[in-house]
Amino acid sequence: MALKIMILGVNGFIGSALTEAILRNRDWEVYGMDLADNKLGDLPRNERFHFVEGDITINKEWVEYHVKKCDVIVPLVAIANPAQYVTHPLRVFELDFEANLTVVRQCVKYGKRLIFPSTSEVYGMSPDSVLDEQSSPLVYGPINKQRWIYACSKQMLDRVIYAYGVRDNLDYTLFRPFNFIGPNLDNPEEPKEGSSRVFTQFLSNVLYRKPIKLVDGGGQKRSFTYIDDAIECLLIILENQDRRASQGIFNIGNPGNCISIRDLAERTIRIAQEFPVLRENARATQILDVSAGEYYGKYYQDIQVRVPNIEAARRTLGWQPKTDMDTAMRRTIDYYVRQEGFGSRAAALLAGG
Ligand code: UGA
Repeated sequence: MALKIMILGVNGFIGSALTEAILRNRDWEVYGMDLADNKLGDLPRNERFHFVEGDITINKEWVEYHVKKCDVIVPLVAIANPAQYVTHPLRVFELDFEANLTVVRQCVKYGKRLIFPSTSEVYGMSPDSVLDEQSSPLVYGPINKQRWIYACSKQMLDRVIYAYGVRDNLDYTLFRPFNFIGPNLDNPEEPKEGSSRVFTQFLSNVLYRKPIKLVDGGGQKRSFTYIDDAIECLLIILENQDRRASQGIFNIGNPGNCISIRDLAERTIRIAQEFPVLRENARATQILDVSAGEYYGKYYQDIQVRVPNIEAARRTLGWQPKTDMDTAMRRTIDYYVRQEGFGSRAAALLAGG
């Protein structure tokens, strides 16, 4: 029988891409909830997609009913933007931790399989040069650095889920995204600075002809992972042939795409020039250094290098990433510039002063 999958936060970056891939490549049914449907395009018309617009913290009965009804639960609702960890730490705790804990407990109660998004951030300021699911220490800063409330909330859920696995034999998989990028991560047409993760932010800066800001010099490194590679891995996890993903923790990342934020800024400017609608803006874009305090405020603390060990995913799931950095960036920009009316908001704003 076709798998029934519940995805909470189905309109998010990962949720929408995953749903699209499931409906295209598999015969599974998807039951999804989210606050909006703007990233879903025509998908709600598919008869195997049962979408409800709503808030999981309000529509509690719908959520519990579908945990009972479905085979696999994928709760993707979370605030995942560092700017918000420092401005709304309690909201992060309430949504990322509390709201998800309820769903985790329902999976235990009804004996359902749980695929849960941990994060590369759980490693925090780990001293390991390559981060390993089984052995790397998870290291955070002091309480007055509120940024860590996100990593801490996610880590606690990892531990709770793991403990339910040991005690109640919960069938779970924890996956740890390493800076996924691609269409629909955030909206580059959003003019408010600081509302996006770094690559979309830089694209937005180009679009609005604002200088790209490098926090503390941009020496920090991230391993950027193209969303299509990540989705391929998630499909293998969902399929779970021979229970290979059950009770496993998997980094999903691309160590080959580990670059500094300064390098990312330079590549953004270079690659954006390949697209006529962005060419002039990209040529005019400057790069500025700012301090972390100026950009994020006093509650922020950064992570200097983040490289995943992906041996577990390679060995157990037979997965490895394929998309190099420039291709990932090019495909993402290409997606945005093809959207109807792309750039008109920015052009109007620039023309109006
Ligand atoms: C991200 C977010 O926490 C989540 O999306 C996720 O859980 C995880 O990491 C992940 O995707 O792996 P981070 O990589 O710090 O955290 O998020 P970004 O906002 O994309 O920032 C990356 C780096 O760019 C940081 O060092 C930041 O200081 C820098 N940055 C950001 C700039 O230099 N300039 C900007 O305008 C924005």
